[in-house]
Amino acid sequence: MVELANIYKTKKEKKAFHLVFLDVRMPGMDGVETCRAIREIDPRIIIIMISAYAVEKEVKEAQRLGALDFLSKPFDVKRIFSIVESVQSRKGMKRQRILVVDDETYTRVFMKELLEGKGHEVVTVEDGYKALEVLKGAVTIERRKEVERKALSFREGVARLVREREEREKLSQALYDKAIVTVKKVLKEAEEGNIESGHEVSKIVEEMVDSLSSGDNTLVVLVNKRTSEENYLYTHSVNVAILSIKVGLGLDYGKDKLIDLGVSAFLHDVGMVKVMEIAKLPRRLTPREYEKIKKHPIYGKEILEKVRDISKSAIQTAYQQHERLRGQGYPEGIRACKINGYAQIVGLVDVYEALTHPRVYRKRFPPHEAMRMIVDSSRDLFSLHIIKELMRELGTYPIGSIVRLDSREIGRVIGANKRFPLRPRILILFDRDGQRLKEPKEVDLVKSGLLHIVEPIDEEKLESELGRSDWWINLWRSVGE
Ligand SMILES: [Fe+2]
Repeated sequence: MVELANIYKTKKEKKAFHLVFLDVRMPGMDGVETCRAIREIDPRIIIIMISAYAVEKEVKEAQRLGALDFLSKPFDVKRIFSIVESVQSRKGMKRQRILVVDDETYTRVFMKELLEGKGHEVVTVEDGYKALEVLKGAVTIERRKEVERKALSFREGVARLVREREEREKLSQALYDKAIVTVKKVLKEAEEGNIESGHEVSKIVEEMVDSLSSGDNTLVVLVNKRTSEENYLYTHSVNVAILSIKVGLGLDYGKDKLIDLGVSAFLHDVGMVKVMEIAKLPRRLTPREYEKIKKHPIYGKEILEKVRDISKSAIQTAYQQHERLRGQGYPEGIRACKINGYAQIVGLVDVYEALTHPRVYRKRFPPHEAMRMIVDSSRDLFSLHIIKELMRELGTYPIGSIVRLDSREIGRVIGANKRFPLRPRILILFDRDGQRLKEPKEVDLVKSGLLHIVEPIDEEKLESELGRSDWWINLWRSVGE
């Protein structure tokens, strides 16, 4: 309220600001961009950049744009006063009008109390757009119109992107749910002895192929969603199909091939219906039980051979998914040159998907760890080019991972940049104080050169870190829960 009241006062008085303290890293328009815009509005304003991370590159860029100085966090109060004093002597005014732009509440309150205590007039805002709004009250009508135009077109652009993303999320969630319904139906038919036709599966897989081919990764993000253990075979089948299609896209497969690969992946574990009683046991299996589970590729082949409209590749994939590079797999122990190409992709994706989801006898591994485990220990088991393709498609921080940025914000990886695997696209979900953002913000780390990933976070640990038990629901609120 205090801040708002200040804004109105500022607009009414239309007096110019003397000094702006501007945070370098803010969600939305960052400090460097805001600095540029402020210089355009009023080149006389003195700008001091503030940041917890005084990186040389940022200092140089801000100075190039006309920022006078750089203040690093935690603050040295004496330095703040000496900066204000030097501005006082430049401007020849005792009482300065100061604008503090920082998305961190603590900084705004701290600076306001500190500087008002010295008799200055202080306005605080939490982002670059609000800063421009405040400043336009202190400049000429022409400048003001220009800023309004820019801010409006930017806001409209952002609002449109948010709407489009929400729409995509809704559609993908609906498609994912539809795929689960289909797999449930098909597995039930298999259990009862006869899958009517592969047509329904190809129809849903085609929709998945269209969605993934458009460059939208929302389905891949959904793969990471937590599921109940009793549903694991359904979600596993859909997830393996999504990830296999993704690898197929990386291998430049055409649409027909992608659908064939997707259907093969979708049905790869259909033979499990014959051993489900054992697979559902809430404990680690005995060697005897495990031998029975290892028969599911044989059952899968038998089931699919009787189905209408099903490709030979799908049958081979169900049969060969557990064969490995040098003949270490089952049921036949054949080597890679004899293993169907789809079965090789599905075999690898199957391992990645299983590692990233919990089983009754073990916890899940976070995506980055699962990827590292595959790279470290699966080179003897899978063809290197398929491992590489999975890595290229999902990224070093695989799509769906949760990461912390050096701005202390937390977000979910929603897209990989193949040329810069360490700089994916991220949907920021929590601000630097751990508060959930009302509207998640998308950043492309290739474009936002100032932001870096500090570490991947295990979602299970996020719960205790944020001190909440509803973290998972919260994280997924934007995809339909
Ligand atoms: Fe399997």
